[in-house]
Amino acid sequence: MDHVSPPGRPAALRLGSVAPDFTADTTQGRVRFHDWIGDAWAILFSHPDDFTPVCTTELAEVARLAPEFARRGVKVIGLSANDVASHRAWIDDIHDIGGVPLRFPIIGDPDRTVAMLYDMLDALDPTNRDAAGVPFTVRDVFVIDPKKLIRLKLSYPASTGRHFAEILRAIDSLQLGDAHRVTTPANWQPGDEVIVHPAVADAEAAQLFPGFRTVRPYLRYTPDPRGAP
Ligand code: BEZ
Repeated sequence: MDHVSPPGRPAALRLGSVAPDFTADTTQGRVRFHDWIGDAWAILFSHPDDFTPVCTTELAEVARLAPEFARRGVKVIGLSANDVASHRAWIDDIHDIGGVPLRFPIIGDPDRTVAMLYDMLDALDPTNRDAAGVPFTVRDVFVIDPKKLIRLKLSYPASTGRHFAEILRAIDSLQLGDAHRVTTPANWQPGDEVIVHPAVADAEAAQLFPGFRTVRPYLRYTPDPRGAP
């Protein structure tokens, strides 16, 4: 394993830190995580348990959104705290229920090796445990860039399905901010006005974003450099 952290303690998974590397079995064979990411963006998203209702709806939704992730150059990998044979049987069910093929890998993590590396285990919900009382994972999402840096992370409880359109929106914001010196306001959607990055002085902003609109010296708007979606 590339990532070194003190024994017994997960690494600090801060934004901007390197996503821990690992090797794991998945529904599409053995994967070394950083090699699997390659030059793409990636999302790693975890689930508590196979054959559970909220998880099933989430995986069906991500399968449905596969073209949207592909359009943004994002590879998707799931994780659930069961083995790969169980995942494979569950995927058949998800096909039936969601009506879309699920083509991305799901990591088998019955002993919680990856879950511990990414600090995904549930310390809150006493019902989110296996028969032996070992915590399942919560619903984490890690957005990882091609340099393997963690760019976004979120944690939802087992009871609450995630909103994957919001994850796509956040990826749009991250990729736009990498390409242009802008940030995105509350509730921004692609095509809406963006904010000139605070580190860009007015003189430079006039070159980069002619006609930018100043509301306050610290709040300057400019059209989305990528135009309408
Ligand atoms: C679910 O996916 O519905 C679920 C999984 C584990 C605990 C609670 C709900």
